[in-house]
Amino acid sequence: MDTGRVAEGVMKLGVLGTGHVGQTIATALVEKGHEVRLGSRTGDHPDAQAWAEKLGTRASQGTFADAAEFGAIVFHCTPGMYALDVLRPCREALHGKVLVDTSNPLDKSQDFPPTSLFLANTDSVAEQIQRELPEVRVVKALNTVAAPLMVDASRVPDTVVFVAGNDAEAKANVVSLLHKAFGWPRASVLDLGDVTSSRALEMLVMMWIRLYGALGTELFNYRLVRAT
Ligand SMILES: NC(=O)c1ccc[n+]([C@@H]2O[C@H](COP(=O)([O-])OP(=O)(O)OC[C@H]3O[C@@H](n4cnc5c(N)ncnc54)[C@H](OP(=O)(O)O)[C@@H]3O)[C@@H](O)[C@H]2O)c1
Repeated sequence: MDTGRVAEGVMKLGVLGTGHVGQTIATALVEKGHEVRLGSRTGDHPDAQAWAEKLGTRASQGTFADAAEFGAIVFHCTPGMYALDVLRPCREALHGKVLVDTSNPLDKSQDFPPTSLFLANTDSVAEQIQRELPEVRVVKALNTVAAPLMVDASRVPDTVVFVAGNDAEAKANVVSLLHKAFGWPRASVLDLGDVTSSRALEMLVMMWIRLYGALGTELFNYRLVRAT
């Protein structure tokens, strides 16, 4: 089985989610020369079909499980509230693979924009996924930046993104992919430790929403400065 080791050259990647994040990540990966399958609930989502048609032969689409099966590394890009519903049917397909979890725990039962989290503080979506699917190597990443910046670090130079997860090799593979495919300098990717660090990363979404309101744009990121 391919366990998601990042080799030089073309990779097969799965992207679960047909929204802004899923399509942005999937498009960027295809444009980098990778083969990508975009997953939806039904396997015939009109947006996914249009995306695959537009992107050409390296792009395909199917159900969430199809995309999970296809990818050596798989991105989870659906709302955190639905993560387990999306991922449970992918259990076998994801066995032993790296799952990059980009989700946030926004409470989707409220009006838009959501102003609260459905879980926080002592738990996180990434931990829920890791508990439910212990054989999957979950890496929390990219949930603290807007989709267009996830895939193009050059727009926010000298800023930081984070990874968290229990598997060091999985995190190294994700850092490598973020670097090669999306331009994140390795030094700009801060490893916060095990999957429980996802609590802090996911709670940052509350700050992100307020910054979005104050700045009037999603195109910003955090810069860390050490005191001299
Ligand atoms: N938007 C951003 O810039 C941004 C930035 C950082 C992190 N995030 C996080 O990244 C994730 C994806 O964001 P997004 O804006 O792309 O999300 P989105 O558009 O809300 O997600 C769409 C995906 O969610 C699936 N979905 C919707 N309702 C569902 C349900 N009840 N059960 C199962 N699946 C369901 C859809 O399935 P179908 O394809 O079948 O319709 C679709 O694939 C979220 O957790 C978000 O908080 C977003």
